[in-house]
Amino acid sequence: MERTLIIIKPDGVQRALVGNVIKRFEARGLRLAGLKLIQIPRALAEEHYAEHKGKGFYEGTVTYMTSAPVVVMVLEGPDAVAASRATMGATNPLNAAPGTIRADFGLNISRNLVHGSDKPETAEREIKLYFQPGELLSYTRAGDGWLKE
Ligand SMILES: Nc1ncnc2c1ncn2[C@@H]1O[C@H](COP(=O)(O)OP(=O)(O)OP(=O)(O)O)[C@@H](O)[C@H]1O
Ligand SMILES: [Mg+2]
Repeated sequence: MERTLIIIKPDGVQRALVGNVIKRFEARGLRLAGLKLIQIPRALAEEHYAEHKGKGFYEGTVTYMTSAPVVVMVLEGPDAVAASRATMGATNPLNAAPGTIRADFGLNISRNLVHGSDKPETAEREIKLYFQPGELLSYTRAGDGWLKE
């Protein structure tokens, strides 16, 4: 069992796609462990995107991510990081495969709707940025047994 951090970015919230995005992860079998609507403070966005500091898109990304509410969630399931990245599609929606969130709902790399942790170690770091341990729930859904052999 693995956990990952997903953010529905400001464009996803403003375009009323929150339900559509969650639906795809849920339908795939990933389970919500935490979920909330927040506006990201600048310091938190800078910490989250620290690896991109100095790149041309860094300032724009930080400004954008803090500009309006986002939905942050922790999803869990087997290979949750890779599975959710596959459901999201390539960073640039123009290169994302049809059927992925970014291809089906987006056209622009800096308005690509969702963030997902890129590695299990990154997920551990990012989950701690957005959630207190007590905000994450461990439970089993009635249908979970039907998702595996
Ligand atoms: N060349 C670019 N121009 C504009 N924005 C970019 C560019 N590259 C990345 N970004 C923005 O910065 C975010 C982080 O880039 P990263 O390389 O980590 O891609 P990613 O891991 O696919 O996306 P994310 O971290 O949001 O899940 C991208 O999702 C995108 O919003
Ligand atoms: Mg990334």
